[in-house]
Amino acid sequence: MKEYRPAGAVIASELGAIAGAENVIFDDFDKMEPYSHDEVSDRNYSRMPEIVVRPDSAGQVSAILKLANRENIPVTPRGAGSGLSGGAVPARGGIVLSTERMNRVLEIDRENLIAVLEPGVITNDFNTLVRREGLFFAGYPMSLEVCFIGGNAAENAGGGRAVKYGVTGRYITGLEVVLPTGEICTFGGKRVKDVTGYNMVQLMVGSEGTLGIFTKIYVKLLPLPRAGIDMMVLFADVRSAINAVPLIMTKTGIVPTGIEFMDKVSLDTTCEFLGEKKRHREAGAVLIIELDGNDPDLIRNECLDIGDLCLDNGALDAFVAEGPSDREKIWKVRRHAAEAFKAISPEQSVEDIVVPVSKIPALIPILEELSAKHNVIIPCYGHAGDGNMHATVVKKPGESMESWRKTLPLVLREMYTQVGELGGTISGEHGIGHKRKDYLPIVLGEAEIGAMKKIKVALDPNNILNPGKIFDLD
Ligand code: LAC
Ligand code: ZN
Repeated sequence: MKEYRPAGAVIASELGAIAGAENVIFDDFDKMEPYSHDEVSDRNYSRMPEIVVRPDSAGQVSAILKLANRENIPVTPRGAGSGLSGGAVPARGGIVLSTERMNRVLEIDRENLIAVLEPGVITNDFNTLVRREGLFFAGYPMSLEVCFIGGNAAENAGGGRAVKYGVTGRYITGLEVVLPTGEICTFGGKRVKDVTGYNMVQLMVGSEGTLGIFTKIYVKLLPLPRAGIDMMVLFADVRSAINAVPLIMTKTGIVPTGIEFMDKVSLDTTCEFLGEKKRHREAGAVLIIELDGNDPDLIRNECLDIGDLCLDNGALDAFVAEGPSDREKIWKVRRHAAEAFKAISPEQSVEDIVVPVSKIPALIPILEELSAKHNVIIPCYGHAGDGNMHATVVKKPGESMESWRKTLPLVLREMYTQVGELGGTISGEHGIGHKRKDYLPIVLGEAEIGAMKKIKVALDPNNILNPGKIFDLD
């Protein structure tokens, strides 16, 4: 494995000369610790940086990367650290480059419906800002209250509205990006069409901070839909809830904004964590169905049609929420599921397997079988409407840590293999990072991984930028 040079006091002072001494953290455990992990609960995926630097311009980012190449020190870019695959963790040590100070909304161009943002803008703040102007950013990651738009772009975040609106990458039309070797490039821009050379924007999007550091992000906006409605549909059990999902997609002729799923354990765990009443005691699983559009009557009727279809297919009951506060109550529970499991069952692994929508029902027996065979709990919630499910492998209270450490990789390997056989893959939205890199060959062949490695080597010949993520080069 490639050796890197440790980053010590001399490098810290050079970084201080680039970004300002007050923006360098060195030799201070307490201040550095928050930069050593993301939201993955297993601390084996954490690592302390040697130095943290907080630049505030593309020029500074470029100077830092040039220094890192010259000195052979790894650099790991970091947004808010809300990721779930270790993308922002300095897996090989070295420098963490935090984008937290680059948090300006540079432009909201109403004529082109494009905003230009720095990477450290909090996604929800941006959403709130454009909403006031009657505009809409369609990205809806569940961590939106904390995550940064830069991390959303780097991970190609998915979230709760992908059924209708697609994922983050669809809304990124341009990037200013600092390449691993320090060159500052602008790819794309405000144009709807652009086939001038390779589609570098979409190569960079989702590259998990391994191919470049984004310093400006061009984000496509939509007119804010005038109406929205949510419905929570209660089912007796997981199977009947999940079986309804492909029917909604194919039998109603309606494209919902999102169809989310929570099983009973996920619902109960999240309600307990939030101190909310378990209002849906009798339900073994629920679907949360969102619709939006400009005609309130139309979406209300569509909602009723979907409700009827669900009731004809085993649903126990359906509650419609139209006002903002009732809608938020439903979504709050859904958005906090991952945090709740992390707090209540810290020995767990939140997965984001994804299958073609028609295969979602086939996932449930697989999870049930794995859970019985390996004596683990596998509660499940997620974005059922786009096939992306957060099966969460949880240690049973009685199981020893030693046996859990052996069991988890077996469960994951079997789960991923079976998901692959369904035409699915191991990550729909959280990425590979270093958490899933050992499992990549289950779903990608040598030729596919080889092509990705060639791109990485071409852009980052010294393997300086976020090494040890997605795959190992050496
Ligand atoms: C969610 C995160 C875990 O959907 O992606 O809650
Ligand atoms: Zn998710």
